[in-house]
Amino acid sequence: MIGRLAHLALAVPDLGAAVATWRAALGAEVGAARDLPLHGVRVAFVRLPNASVELMEPLGAESPLAGFLARHPGGGMHHVCYEVADLAAARDRLVAAGARALGEPREGAHGRPVLFLHPRDFAGTLIELEEVA
Ligand code: CO
Repeated sequence: MIGRLAHLALAVPDLGAAVATWRAALGAEVGAARDLPLHGVRVAFVRLPNASVELMEPLGAESPLAGFLARHPGGGMHHVCYEVADLAAARDRLVAAGARALGEPREGAHGRPVLFLHPRDFAGTLIELEEVA
């Protein structure tokens, strides 16, 4: 069921500074920053040959990243995103296996449906599943 690694996501306190660091220090190709109001984050994707890195900072006072950055002020690893072919089928299988879905599927950063899974069920790591055509 699980497919390719889509991206790793890092929470950062200052997206502009992070993008500058990835470009200057790592020589990375970084896409334009975009607001994702549905998720309460502002993101920019670092394009790697085999996957992406999502750099994200809080957007708005209600951002779910605020608590994370309060615990990790310098930023940190936030979630891992895997591709799946059928998100509804993946959710049904995971829930049947005892995993906890966080809410319902909704539109993700690439305009495709995504679903988050509770970190307690996956070695302490928040999981995002993204449906790919
Ligand atoms: Co993500």
